[in-house]
Amino acid sequence: MATPKPNILFIGYGHLAKSLLSSSLRKSYNINYINSQNTIFSINSKKKIKQKNISYRYIFLLIKPDIFLKKASHFKNFISQDSKIISCMAGIKLITICKNLGHKNVIRIMPNVMAKQNKSQTFVFAKNKKILNSSFNKLIKSFGSIHYTSNEDQINIATSIFGSGPAFIAYLIKSYIEAAKNLSKKNQLQDIDLLNLFHNVLLTNQNSKDLDFFLNSIASKKGTTQAGINFLKSQNINKIIYTTLDRAYKRAKEIGIDK
Ligand SMILES: NC(=O)c1ccc[n+]([C@@H]2O[C@H](COP(=O)([O-])OP(=O)(O)OC[C@H]3O[C@@H](n4cnc5c(N)ncnc54)[C@H](OP(=O)(O)O)[C@@H]3O)[C@@H](O)[C@H]2O)c1
Repeated sequence: MATPKPNILFIGYGHLAKSLLSSSLRKSYNINYINSQNTIFSINSKKKIKQKNISYRYIFLLIKPDIFLKKASHFKNFISQDSKIISCMAGIKLITICKNLGHKNVIRIMPNVMAKQNKSQTFVFAKNKKILNSSFNKLIKSFGSIHYTSNEDQINIATSIFGSGPAFIAYLIKSYIEAAKNLSKKNQLQDIDLLNLFHNVLLTNQNSKDLDFFLNSIASKKGTTQAGINFLKSQNINKIIYTTLDRAYKRAKEIGIDK
């Protein structure tokens, strides 16, 4: 007889929760979720679940921090002694989660919305390293690559760079597309050609050194590229990008304090 699949509960089924449903996660686990109406659904069968006393191997916290702090005592009802709690919430510290749930097996992770395509770089922090075993490793690898951190503040940094990062990058790409289309009003440019431009620069460069070489080789003095690069430098683009990441990092830290 085949061994039953381990049970997973998603507390919250919003934007991030839906993005975690990679095909390997769906294949290997039996996943339920609970919504704000306190109804439990099975993701696999798409039906309401009546049975209450299910033992969950992993319970993902996928609600907003304020909801967690308000409802933690209710969420305790789903935890068994062996359950591992996996918090995806920005800001809320491990110690706060342990205290509010009265449970020690808590892990903080910071995935991003590309997990569904197995393309998330997921950062992990736990005080008790024993709970980061091979079955946990396999679970997180269903989202993409896994990066263990030894300092909890690294989760705030990952929240900014890798959690919010996809939105920052999408915004920058969108600005380039809009600017290019504005400049080329008569000759309609296609999104695909502009997106391929980004893909191709990434394909040609593997690291920072390649990028420096690439920049130096194409920006000839007094040429067209140099004119554009000089403008980017004069606007202090490095500072703009740094401040963007720093604002998100500081906000992640604030969330942990304001509640
Ligand atoms: N979005 C991202 O890219 C991202 C990345 C990394 C980490 N995070 C973290 O992930 C968490 C969720 O973010 P999100 O963007 O997915 O938010 P979201 O789309 O607003 O989803 C939150 C979900 O929580 C549900 N909910 C509210 N009260 C509940 C309750 N009492 N019991 C169960 N579920 C309840 C809501 O259900 P209803 O729809 O029924 O109200 C909603 O579906 C946040 O803590 C955030 O810091 C997000």
